[in-house]
Parts: sequence; C-alpha cells; structure tokens
Amino acid sequence: MATILSGKECAAAMHEELKIKVDELKNKHNLTPRLAVILVGDDPGSVSYVRGKEKDCLRVGIEFQLHKFDTDYSEADLLALILQLNDDHAIHGFIVQLPLPGHINEEKVLYAIDPEKDVDGFHPVNIGRMMIGAQCFLPATPHGIQQLLVRNNIPIEGQHVVIVGRSNIVGKPLAMMLVQKKQHANATVTLCHTRTKNLADITRTADILVAAAGRPDTITRDMVKENAVVIDVGVNRINDPTKKQGYRLIGDVDFTTVCEIASAITPVPGGVGPMTRTMLLHNTIQAARNHAGIS
Ligand SMILES: NC(=O)c1ccc[n+]([C@@H]2O[C@H](COP(=O)([O-])OP(=O)(O)OC[C@H]3O[C@@H](n4cnc5c(N)ncnc54)[C@H](OP(=O)(O)O)[C@@H]3O)[C@@H](O)[C@H]2O)c1
Repeated sequence: MATILSGKECAAAMHEELKIKVDELKNKHNLTPRLAVILVGDDPGSVSYVRGKEKDCLRVGIEFQLHKFDTDYSEADLLALILQLNDDHAIHGFIVQLPLPGHINEEKVLYAIDPEKDVDGFHPVNIGRMMIGAQCFLPATPHGIQQLLVRNNIPIEGQHVVIVGRSNIVGKPLAMMLVQKKQHANATVTLCHTRTKNLADITRTADILVAAAGRPDTITRDMVKENAVVIDVGVNRINDPTKKQGYRLIGDVDFTTVCEIASAITPVPGGVGPMTRTMLLHNTIQAARNHAGIS
C-alpha cells in the first residue's frame, strides 16, 4: 500500500519555519511582511480561498489586507488600485484572486502588477525568470509540489516525471521547474494533454506521475507503474447527499486502486492544496526581505 504524502502535515511544519522567519524579521529588522489580496465578486470558491489565505497569514504573523469589491467593479478601477498597491511601500506583495468577472481582462490585470510584488508568480517577467532558472517568485502550486517531494525525501533528479495537464498555473510551470539543471530538479519531464496519443503508455513510464487535469478518474490503476509516486493536483466536486454541504472533493486519480500500486500518493483534500497555500506565505516573506534588501 502506498505511503500517504500529507500536504497538511508538511504545510504545518513549514508554517512553523515561516513563523520563525517572520519573528526574526520583526525582531531584528522591525519589518512585518504584508500581503494584500484583491477579491472581485462573490464566487464562493474564491471567497473561501481568500478566507483561508487570511487565516494562514495570521498564523505565521504576516499582516493581511483585503480589498473586496462587488462583481460590477470596473476594470479601470481595478487597474488603478493595482497601480496604487504597486507604489505602496507598506505592501510587500499582493495578488488578484482569480477567476475575475467576465468584463475584466485577466491578462491586462496580471500584466499591471509590479513583478517585484507578484507573489503569485503569474507575471510574464517572473515566468520568464523561472524558465531560465533565475531568482523569481515561483507559482505556488508547482513550488508546493516540489517542496512536498523534497521534504518527503523523494528523489527528483534523473526521474521521469509525467505531468497530465498543461495549464499556465500548474502543468507548464511544474515542467519548467523540475527540468532545471539545479538541486531538487534535474528530472526528465513529459507534459501531456488532451491531444496526447496513448496517454496510458506514457503515464506507465512515470517514476513520478502528476495529475492536473481537473477531471475525476483521469488516472486509473492501469495507467500507473508499480512503485511510482503519484501527485494528485485535481480538485473536483462530486455530489454527496451524506455531506452537510451536499458534495465532497475528490482528485483526478482513482485513489483507492492507485494506492495499491503506487509507492506514495497525495490525498485530496489534504495533499497539494495546503502546500499551495503555504508557498504564497513563503513568497510574501521573500517579497518583504527583497523590499528591505535582506538577502
Ligand atoms: N490543489 C491545488 O492547490 C490546486 C491548484 C491549482 C489547480 N488545482 C486543480 O487542478 C486541476 C487542474 O487545474 P488547472 O487550472 O491546471 O486546469 P486547466 O486550466 O483546466 O487545465 C487542465 C489541463 O488538463 C488537460 N486535460 C484535461 N483532461 C485531460 C485528459 N482526460 N487527458 C489528458 N489531459 C487532460 C487539459 O488539456 P488541454 O490543454 O488539451 O485542454 C489541460 O491542459 C483542477 O481540478 C484544479 O481545481 C488544484
């Protein structure tokens, strides 16, 4: 049976480390890291994610500032607020919670954020820096996956990593990160998507298999090599009348059967999710250090 790679436990350990770093910044440098979050509209998922981010910040001692607006908030006002936050020395990093309402151009908004404050790591400058292996804010989900592997002593170097899903926030940046000629990387990476031929033939060659497709049962037992490490990024809601909220969350991997063949696997929930949240805290602390010129 596979070992469970608990993102919840790993994130809790990282919170302790981050809290120590924040305390040190406060005590030695009189510096409190500050994160601002812009939330437009009342998408329940986004509201709950933002609430989680606030809780996480408070837990490690980061100050949190919320800018919340109705769905009809204009693009022009949002861009003006971004420019204001870019210039606000008290804010070290900020994010715009996605998705945005349809009338707002997401690309325009992301491009307006100062890359030095882009703690989500979505600005093309940060993505470009990541691609060439330079110092940057790494996007939270792939960075969290890398940390989860490293902290569980799972070797990455020389391993064949197969990623199913090529989004700009998960699949593509994870491929870029793990292929770097660097410590905690040096993998051979294959990136798959809906036009990939013979998907199962490829996934069966993975030493580390990452599912980031957003579809339940994308990865079934027959698609997994014996003793592979399986990382399930997917978060899918399925109806469940036995639950108070009427649904439960499952990943992209058929967890029960894949458990029997994999050497290690992440659960959903409690796997990649908590790591994603933690890496935003990491970037915010880094942004504050950069701002103060602390290496
Ligand atoms: N836990 C976390 O922290 C976290 C963070 C981010 C996302 N997520 C979850 O991860 C999942 C993926 O999110 P995302 O934003 O990366 O997704 P996305 O933008 O919807 O992209 C999904 C990707 O998967 C590919 N795909 C879908 N079905 C496939 C199939 N049957 N076979 C092969 N490839 C397939 C798509 O291929 P094409 O490009 O060809 O369409 C696409 O590249 C979602 O469930 C999301 O909720 C979780």
